[in-house]
Amino acid sequence: MTTVAQREGVTRAVGAPAAGVHPPHISVVVPTYNERDNVEELLGRLVAAVPVDTELIFVDDSSDDTVDAIRAAAEKLDVTVTVHHRAEATGGLGGAVVEGLRRAQGTWVVVMDADLQHPPDLVPQLVAAGDEADADLVVASRYVDGGTRDGLANAYRRYVSQGSTRLAKAMFGRTLAGVSDPMSGFFAVRATALDPAALRPLGYKILLELMVRAKPRKVVEVPFSFGTRFAGESKSSLSEGLRFLRHLATLRVGDSQLRMLGYAAVGVSGVLPNLVALQLLTAVFGVHYLTAAVIANQVAIGWNFVLTDRLIFRSRRRRSLWSRMGQFAVLGNVDLVARIPLLALLVGDLGLGYLSGTAITLAVMFLVRFLILDRLVYVRTSKPSPSVWETP
Ligand code: GDD
Ligand code: MN
Repeated sequence: MTTVAQREGVTRAVGAPAAGVHPPHISVVVPTYNERDNVEELLGRLVAAVPVDTELIFVDDSSDDTVDAIRAAAEKLDVTVTVHHRAEATGGLGGAVVEGLRRAQGTWVVVMDADLQHPPDLVPQLVAAGDEADADLVVASRYVDGGTRDGLANAYRRYVSQGSTRLAKAMFGRTLAGVSDPMSGFFAVRATALDPAALRPLGYKILLELMVRAKPRKVVEVPFSFGTRFAGESKSSLSEGLRFLRHLATLRVGDSQLRMLGYAAVGVSGVLPNLVALQLLTAVFGVHYLTAAVIANQVAIGWNFVLTDRLIFRSRRRRSLWSRMGQFAVLGNVDLVARIPLLALLVGDLGLGYLSGTAITLAVMFLVRFLILDRLVYVRTSKPSPSVWETP
């Protein structure tokens, strides 16, 4: 039965008391989202495979009774399990894994899915391989000799998986060198090589985030067969794919550069509504071209505002809509007025050509507007936001 306490994000231990006071050698972190029909099988097979003092942590964002299923299974098996049900599913799967990494006490933390696509009996082997090689990270790979990916639902999923792996490896050549499966959701990481607070994953690819941001010293791979789901449905979707692309971009160019690029793209896109409005006003409504230019510019500012506000600074909308919109409109109009004297200075006083002068004024004013928006209008909070683009 679903209780109120679960909804509030509590940690509870069920089953037998923890064995010993030493930190466990292995912690297993399992993110769950509506996996009620998988957890009993998973726990049974895990318990059979891992040392008795292994710490088992579930980070749950389910809307079904997965938490109760975990508790029931743990009681039957007489094993200690920690279930952290999050009241808010911040950061989705990636956020859940970071939460688990933060809570784990073990020397090694193994992250795995709940749907049995990741074989539980491999957990101790991953850790043993890491100990033996004195590595910081052990990746269970579908792409080294002996590994398979038969469990990927269809040719489309296989194609997407392969394509995204290639893309990531092309973008992060050196960091991912020697790792055949940076998209794997099954890995073991040494706790001392880990700073969960530095991780800001965007979506599913937590291993990629970890490799790029934490730069583990030594990485080894262990082959595995990515099986088929035991029960239930996959939670990944098309929007997960888009999130992956944003994740790559954020990892590559950094948050603020990505924002600036996005803001520039929005600015360029604003030329189109500007011209359309100008054409409509002069040709259809017979408005004088100068008046039309002023109005068309307001249309472009409106267009830019909607896109900038929704896409670029979505996660930083602290001020009211009216205040953001007002400040944005003032900036846009001041920009127009300020560009004229700046152009006069560059061309008249410094002797630059019209074209290069105009290009410089556009670039300078673009930067000034961006900085004002970034620093003054869309104020940051003290806490780093989970993502640049935060999807609704
Ligand atoms: N807590 C939490 N919150 N768990 C989640 C969420 C969420 O928002 N979304 C998914 N999960 C859990 C699922 O319950 C499951 O245990 C695990 O994350 C993986 O979800 P699936 O929906 O089964 O993902 P998949 O099979 O498509 O993708 C897996 O394989 C990929 C490789 O092809 C994942 O391991 C990916 O990370 C991996 O890249
Ligand atoms: Mn799965």
